[in-house]
Amino acid sequence: MDYMNNLFVFGKTVSGDAFTDREKDTAKLVANFQYGVNTFLLSPRRWGKTSLVKKAKSIAENSKLKIVYVDVHLCRSREEFCERFASAVLTQTSNKMEEWMENAKMFLNRFSFGVNASADPTNELTLKMQILPQEQSMEDLLQLPERIAKRKKISVVVCIDEFQQIGSFPNSAQFQTELRSVWQHHELTSYCLFGSKKHMMEAFFDDSSKPFYKFGDIIYLQRIPVEYWVKYITDKFHHEGKSITAKQATWIVDQVEGNSSYVQQLSWYVFQRTTKSVNNDILAEALTELVEQCVDVFEARTESLTAYQMNLMRCIADGNHTGLSSAKNISKYNLGSSSNVVIIKKSLLEKDLISVEKKDVFLSDPVMGIWLKRQ
Ligand SMILES: Nc1ncnc2c1ncn2[C@@H]1O[C@H](COP(=O)(O)OP(=O)(O)O)[C@@H](O)[C@H]1O
Ligand SMILES: [Mg+2]
Repeated sequence: MDYMNNLFVFGKTVSGDAFTDREKDTAKLVANFQYGVNTFLLSPRRWGKTSLVKKAKSIAENSKLKIVYVDVHLCRSREEFCERFASAVLTQTSNKMEEWMENAKMFLNRFSFGVNASADPTNELTLKMQILPQEQSMEDLLQLPERIAKRKKISVVVCIDEFQQIGSFPNSAQFQTELRSVWQHHELTSYCLFGSKKHMMEAFFDDSSKPFYKFGDIIYLQRIPVEYWVKYITDKFHHEGKSITAKQATWIVDQVEGNSSYVQQLSWYVFQRTTKSVNNDILAEALTELVEQCVDVFEARTESLTAYQMNLMRCIADGNHTGLSSAKNISKYNLGSSSNVVIIKKSLLEKDLISVEKKDVFLSDPVMGIWLKRQ
């Protein structure tokens, strides 16, 4: 419903006027695309990875460099992954439907497939496998970008969004090894692999035994600095004839710990309530609306937590980012013992409910912290 709202945009990738900062990241990614450097891009959810990749794509793409975007969020197996991968590569490296059909016939003749294509030739087609591809065919699918690049005499970058998903496939470790062994020989194709769930992404490359160890450049996306947000927010208010002070804009950013999506969403709730200028009541009401919007999701995400896990969540929500297992915290929040804290921390990390930044522990979702404190 927010498609009419081009003022503060959330819930979809942002571009143009709604995109702020990220100049250095954009330049780095564009250069990696242009020079064929493989990239891992990591950040917590909703900080702006997808938007950044799409922006870099729009800058770097030209007739000699095709940039394919594929989201594997919904894939549950290597077959589904390869199918999506191949279908995205086929459609996005060609300008015309005839061309991708031709490529499909040329490179995918080992198995039969059906095509669901809409009338609009620019839409992504969906390949429907008629038979389960054999190992050989699976490799053919993975070789597709390189073969097309050779044939068309172009370079290709394949950007794979929510890449952490492959960590939960059956036989994932073996699949990762296969991916790496095929991709590392590609000369005209490079890869940008990105996703949230840092601990899962890092598991692909964090030591020399891992398939993607030293596969490429690693970018840890940072928060957009508060001064960019303040300018962004105050400019948008002023443009619409309303006023907000730098201090109030900073308050918005602080409440949500600079989470890009929540900054935009909270700003929107503040904006909606403001006739002329922002005041404290408006800020407080807007924050309550934001929390209320999230309650159902938070309840669902925490309902299966143990009492100990909830206690540690509350401890972090109260602003404790280090020394969680201090004697004071253990007794105040009833955390059992320091070895218990280690176990709880690990399980919350695996659930992606908390994240570690430079040794400090944060709730992955800052609004969940506000909700916990209000309970
Ligand atoms: N560069 C940016 N400038 C302003 N807002 C942004 C920016 N990047 C992300 N956002 C906000 O964050 C939300 C999530 O962005 P998205 O790119 O989908 O993040 P991710 O892929 O990391 O989950 C967007 O809907 C928007 O509200
Ligand atoms: Mg994304």
